[in-house]
Amino acid sequence: MKNRILLLTTVLSLLACVSYAQKVIRISTDNTDLILRTAPDGRLHQSYLGERFLAESDIAHLPMGKEVYITHGMEDYFEPALEAHFDGGKSSVVLAYVDHTVNTLSPKVVETVVTLRDELRAIAVRLCYTAYQEQDVVKMHAEIVNEGRKPVELVRYASSMLHFRSSDYFLTEYSGDWAEEATMTTTPLTFGKKVLDTKLGSRASFFTSSQFILSLGEQATEHTGNVLFGTLAWTGNFRFTFEKDQEGNLRVISGINPYFSNYELKKGETFVTPDFIYTFSSKGMGEASRHLHRWARKYQLHQGEDDRYCLLNNWEATYFNFDEEKLDHLMGNAAELGLDLFLLDDGWFGNKYPRSSDNAGLGDWQATRDKLPGGVGHLTATAKEKGIRFGIWIEPEMVNPKSELYEKHPDWVIHQPDREEYYFRNQLVLDMSNPAVQDYVFGIVDGLMTECPDLAFFKWDCNSPITNIWSPYLKEKQTHLYVEHVRGLYNVLERVRAKYPDLRMMLCSGGSGRIDYKALSYFTEFWASDNTDPVARIFIQYGYSFFYPAKATCAHVTSWNRNASVKFRTDVAMMGKLGFDIRTDEMTDAERTYCKEAIANCKRLAPVIWDGDLYRLVSPYEGNHAATQFCSPDGQHAVVFAFDIHPSHAERLQTVKLEGLNPQTRYKVEEINLMPGQRSRLRGNGSTYSGDFLMKVGLNLFSEGTMQSKVIELKAAD
Ligand code: GLA
Repeated sequence: MKNRILLLTTVLSLLACVSYAQKVIRISTDNTDLILRTAPDGRLHQSYLGERFLAESDIAHLPMGKEVYITHGMEDYFEPALEAHFDGGKSSVVLAYVDHTVNTLSPKVVETVVTLRDELRAIAVRLCYTAYQEQDVVKMHAEIVNEGRKPVELVRYASSMLHFRSSDYFLTEYSGDWAEEATMTTTPLTFGKKVLDTKLGSRASFFTSSQFILSLGEQATEHTGNVLFGTLAWTGNFRFTFEKDQEGNLRVISGINPYFSNYELKKGETFVTPDFIYTFSSKGMGEASRHLHRWARKYQLHQGEDDRYCLLNNWEATYFNFDEEKLDHLMGNAAELGLDLFLLDDGWFGNKYPRSSDNAGLGDWQATRDKLPGGVGHLTATAKEKGIRFGIWIEPEMVNPKSELYEKHPDWVIHQPDREEYYFRNQLVLDMSNPAVQDYVFGIVDGLMTECPDLAFFKWDCNSPITNIWSPYLKEKQTHLYVEHVRGLYNVLERVRAKYPDLRMMLCSGGSGRIDYKALSYFTEFWASDNTDPVARIFIQYGYSFFYPAKATCAHVTSWNRNASVKFRTDVAMMGKLGFDIRTDEMTDAERTYCKEAIANCKRLAPVIWDGDLYRLVSPYEGNHAATQFCSPDGQHAVVFAFDIHPSHAERLQTVKLEGLNPQTRYKVEEINLMPGQRSRLRGNGSTYSGDFLMKVGLNLFSEGTMQSKVIELKAAD
């Protein structure tokens, strides 16, 4: 008997050895596979990333591929994912597979955690993957554990490394500036490195945001091509490295930017890197966007499945020049238009140093007495009387040197103590790594909410990048500041969300200088740009539409570009989360009537525009026109937005084919958002067509006029 048990144990351990050598980890969604395998030496490789395999047995035929999380100091010749320095100057790391677990978090969400360890250096890495199966989205990050007795210095600590092998690669990147956000550029990747990064600290995505589109083989279109959308959920310095080697292999390394960010990991400590999120599609960019939007609404965006408030903002209407009477009046206008909320912008606070321009008051969050004698309470009460909600602007992580806060706490500010202060928009960044500053920032929201529990909305701004980096709090750990600053911000946002889960909050940063999916787990929406010229907005909103759903993308009607009609400006804004920032008194009666109707339409069509699927029918980058369609998930209801920007003379206009409809269903097609008395120029307006016809032949969406727009509703008629 004893012998038999011995034999059985030997066979089992032999089997364990064999299976150890052949470990296959399959991270699947409904349409994609990421396949990892261990080599005979126990090191983990990425064998595949792409369309999902039909037969499990085929996986055995895959080549081993590149190591999954390449470390510094070994045999690899290119950029590593991990570089760690150990006591005594050693720095190489070899990671071998230890084990992995698979947990079903909810019926269609599966988490896989793979543990790798270095036998020599007491360092372990956990690679964590969450697969959202229905949306084809994978969220991944790395956790680096110091298992030794001495501190370890992390020099590079990527969230993810992905490998590709394809004939060609095309990278679409985002660049911009204030009022020029989300410009898309696509270029082929050639040998060597392409780096997209930022070192701005806060307002980190001022010049480039943390997202990219990678086409494999051929450049993807809306309907064709193998394409990966990637984005890093980190509200600070990020870096994407795309490196193509001499054999044409591409690695994509995503994570916190290691610039001035060496991080000392103490004994027993774990460094959790931010999430890298990707979706892969073999059917082009349209599908990838729709998947990402569905995922964001369901799992990531704060209150992603709830409705949004259409609001009137006073920034462009008054700038700093307002008083109680003016605001009461504007609130009346908001109510008249049928809006849900009035948003009071910058300029309401500061007493010793009133905020009457952007060079004073930031940090002193008490209402200015002579401007607003009744305080914020009076304003929330007026809003209530008028039947709307009230929201308010804050910029809580910043300070003007001309403020009581700065006088009291100069040590709360980030700047090199022996250098002259450098001001961006006359302000400095508070040191969010300091817990006392975190308490203070949380206290701004908490204080306002306690004083005025009816406050329903915050616009949370952040106008300055970090300059002259030095934290009085962190002392000798200065290279932790970029990371701890962001973690400090998250601590505050966690506390805000724990106490005020229903509060709607707009993420703003002098436009969209701060935008990523971690921030959006706390915010319900983001301000896409201070540039509200509708023509520029068509491009900016188009750019963001690849990654962010319409309900998260705030778009306001303002007075920028008065050559464009109020209708054109409103029709553009209605493709996002519609709001107004305009003196409605200065509108004509016809414009006001039109706006009321557009607002009513926006709310009625919210299930289609805000919660439906997006189809980019015509890109503004392609020429003189643009068109976007939203469609309810059941295909019964759709809205098409069509814009003529600057048509050229005698242009031959083509019909535009619609998408996402049911071929058999018949749809009544009707132009909406018409100015009072305006006759529709849509050919076939009011007619009924089959989905089949609309998708094969389409509609005459465009005209030869400059800055003309059409909004067309399609409703299943059967
Ligand atoms: C930033 C925002 C604007 C406005 C101003 C107020 O620039 O992007 O929308 O709130 O601040 O100072």
